[in-house]
Amino acid sequence: MGFTTRNSHTSVMMNEVLENLHLKKGDCVLDCTLGLGGHARQIAKKIGSHGLLIGIDRDEDSLMLAKENLEEFSGRCAFIQKDFRHLDDVLDDLGIKQVDGVVLDLGVSSYQLETAERGFSIKADGPLDMRMDRKSYISAYDLINSLSFNEISSILKNFGEERFHERIADQLVRQRIKHPIESTEELKSIILKAIPGRHQQYKIHPATRTFQAFRIAVNRELEALDIALNKAVRYLKKDGYICSIAFHSLEDRIIKEKFRYFAKENIVEIVTKKPLRPTDQETHENIRARSARLRVAKRIA
Ligand SMILES: C[S@@+](CC[C@H](N)C(=O)[O-])C[C@H]1O[C@@H](n2cnc3c(N)ncnc32)[C@H](O)[C@@H]1O
Repeated sequence: MGFTTRNSHTSVMMNEVLENLHLKKGDCVLDCTLGLGGHARQIAKKIGSHGLLIGIDRDEDSLMLAKENLEEFSGRCAFIQKDFRHLDDVLDDLGIKQVDGVVLDLGVSSYQLETAERGFSIKADGPLDMRMDRKSYISAYDLINSLSFNEISSILKNFGEERFHERIADQLVRQRIKHPIESTEELKSIILKAIPGRHQQYKIHPATRTFQAFRIAVNRELEALDIALNKAVRYLKKDGYICSIAFHSLEDRIIKEKFRYFAKENIVEIVTKKPLRPTDQETHENIRARSARLRVAKRIA
């Protein structure tokens, strides 16, 4: 059985995360991607009433829902709306010098994906938004309707590893001359027009890579991850563990390379030589878990 929170998101690799955090009563844990509080709930139970769970999320709506879901643990939780790239400011403001564990469970939650008006989903029609923080200035609409052919093409290539990046960028630039591209449905149909039919037979929807690429660009996700990993390790106590779950190869590569660098500097020991993957049972029960890869490192100095 998965761990599903109200409203709703099934946390991935819960048992593996809990096992690898090695928590004890009274620990202080930083959850950089609180989401709806699924991992946080189980962590809050483990650290007990003298522990502290600091939950960060950039998404105000998710944070509100997490607060409700974690109401019974509110005395041991701090909820902060922030981009996790600023985790140092969060900890400094709380007067916390070190934490016993860090969790990063990247990407978007099922709740965000399934809320059509957020514009993350290929499945439901919605506006081209894709901002995790709805107060941030740039949405997918802005990128799609104002960047140059070269800029769009390089976003699709670098953040989506999309083979047909030029064809899709070309179609987008042509279509938007007629009228601005406004909805996820329009974006999807333009992508389908751009990708040759014989390449549309894959298991994943042909628009998946383009949606991923624009989402990463809108939220500057890879840059945030790189910055946050540097800071998180700095605040991790000796013998504390960091667990990072990636959902695509670009994120996973950043985590792998960062951990290797910290290991070379004798700051951490890499616990997972290869990333841990969800069990067959978990992927069977929760399709989102299919691409999850968990990497763990332990601070040794
Ligand atoms: C996969 S969900 C986390 C789910 C959560 N672990 C649970 O079990 O409910 C990822 C969350 O991270 C948040 N997020 C992604 N990038 C972020 C960033 N740079 N700063 C803060 N939050 C971020 C998203 O808004 C989303 O709510």
